[in-house]
Order: sequence, then structure tokens, then C-alpha cells
Amino acid sequence: MSENRYERRRYTRFKDISVSERILNTVFLLTIGLGYLAALANMYYTHQGLDGKAGLSMEDVVISYHGSSSQTRLGNAIRGIMEPNLKYKSDKDVILQWIQHGADEPEYNEKIAPILDRDCVLCHTPSVNPSLPDLTHYATVSEVAHAGGATIPTLIRVSHIHLFGIAFILFFIGKIFLLCDINVYVKRVAVVIPFAAMLLDVVSWFITKSTPSFAYVVVYSGALMGLSMGLQILLSIYQMWFYSKEKS
Ligand code: HEC
Repeated sequence: MSENRYERRRYTRFKDISVSERILNTVFLLTIGLGYLAALANMYYTHQGLDGKAGLSMEDVVISYHGSSSQTRLGNAIRGIMEPNLKYKSDKDVILQWIQHGADEPEYNEKIAPILDRDCVLCHTPSVNPSLPDLTHYATVSEVAHAGGATIPTLIRVSHIHLFGIAFILFFIGKIFLLCDINVYVKRVAVVIPFAAMLLDVVSWFITKSTPSFAYVVVYSGALMGLSMGLQILLSIYQMWFYSKEKS
């Protein structure tokens, strides 16, 4: 009993801090909460509709990070204005399927290069038409056979901003949350969760770039971070103002 009280006394709790400090904590947490809602809205507007349908869907997330295989310049051209240049109509499906499967180099050499060499490169050669996509070799064909998707430099830029910025935010939220009066083991796990979720989120952006199904991990880890952060904020504000432990 007395040992228990000693344990509790060693650490500061909300009841130990001044009203001005509680006010400061509260306005900070509310501002961060509002900032987070704005970040969610921003995310919605930058990603929604990429798949051609209104609203945010898993497909939009895939297109943002991985890119789309249905909206490539090569695919659109071969379905449209460039189709008449094909000697055999059946080659259209060969090319479209190759794009759909990720437009890799071995299959390019085996099936695609012969078609392009025969039907396309007479115009699509830099020496003839420097302004047209160069269809003479894999590297440049690959550029028009892939669409959208985040580039590695972009992902690195966004990751460092996220990791630095959000680490600070989570640290301060966590510091305040530590003043809550709750089970110590719950607390120890709870302060780690948002950090772990943020890391998983950032790592999964990079994985989604090559493996589209990881978009689910992006979404769920992002949601877990928001949720755990939100719970810390709400519980802190609640305990700061509305909670008093009888035995003090
Ligand atoms: C007779 C010359 C000619 C041939 C042959 C030709 N193209 Fe083109 N291609 C063009 C021209 C001109 C444009 C630019 C059209 C425009 O911007 O309106 C173009 C544009 C394109 C584009 C870019 C479209 C965009 O997004 O701006 C792609 C991709 C393309 N062609 C693929 C092909 C493929 C694949 C073949 C072979 C099946 C082919 N072309 C054969 C002349 C040609």
C-alpha cells in the first residue's frame, strides 16, 4: 500500500501540474488535433479521383505510389491514335498485356521490341523526330509504359519531412500523455504505437512503389497512427480537466 503510493508520488501526474500548464497543454493538443484534421483533408484532395472516380479509394493510393498500368502514354496511344500503325491488330493486346504485367525488360526484348521495330521506330527515333517518345530501346519505352507513381526522390523528400516533423509532434503529445493516470504497461505500449505506425507507414510507401498490394499497409498504418495519436490527445484532455483520483 505505502509502496504503491511511493511509486505514484515519484512521477508527475496531471493533478500535480498548474492550471496554466494544463491550459498550455490543452491549446497545444487542440491545435495539433486541428492540424491533423487539415492534413487528412489535404491527403484526401491530393489523392482522390486519381483513378477517374470521385472519392478516395485503395486504387487511388496504389496509383499515387505505384502508378497505374491503365493510364500509360503507350497504352493510351496504342488504344487510340497510334493503333492504325500496327501491322497486326493482335499486337495491340500483346503490348497492352505487357504493360499490365509491369512492362519488364525480358518480355520487352522477347515480344515488344520486334513489334516496335517493325511498326513504330520509323517515326519514333530521336534522329527522325526528337520530340516524339523514343521507342528504339527499353529505357525510353519503359518511361511511356509506366504511369504516375511516386519517384524515389519524392518519396525520400516526403519521408524525411514526415519523420522529422511527426516525431516532434508525437514526442510532445506523448510527453503530455505520460501524465495520465493509467496502467503503466498500457502506457508503455501506447507511447510506442504511433511511432511504430508512422515508421511502418513510411516504409510501406517505398514497398508500395513496387508491390501495389502494400497500399493496404499504407492505409492501415496511417490510420493506426492517427487513431493512437487521437486517443492520446483525447485521454490527456479528459484526465487533465475531468478526472481526479479519489486516493491522493
Ligand atoms: C507515321 C509516323 C508514326 C508512326 C509509324 C508511329 N507513330 Fe507514334 N506518334 C507519331 C506522332 C506524329 C505522334 C505525336 C502525336 C500527337 O502528339 O498528337 C506520336 C505519338 C506517339 C506517342 C505519344 C502519345 C502521347 O502521350 O503524347 C506514343 C506513345 C506513340 N506515338 C506510340 C507509337 C507506337 C507504339 C507506334 C507503333 C505501333 C507508333 N507510335 C507509330 C508518329 C508515329
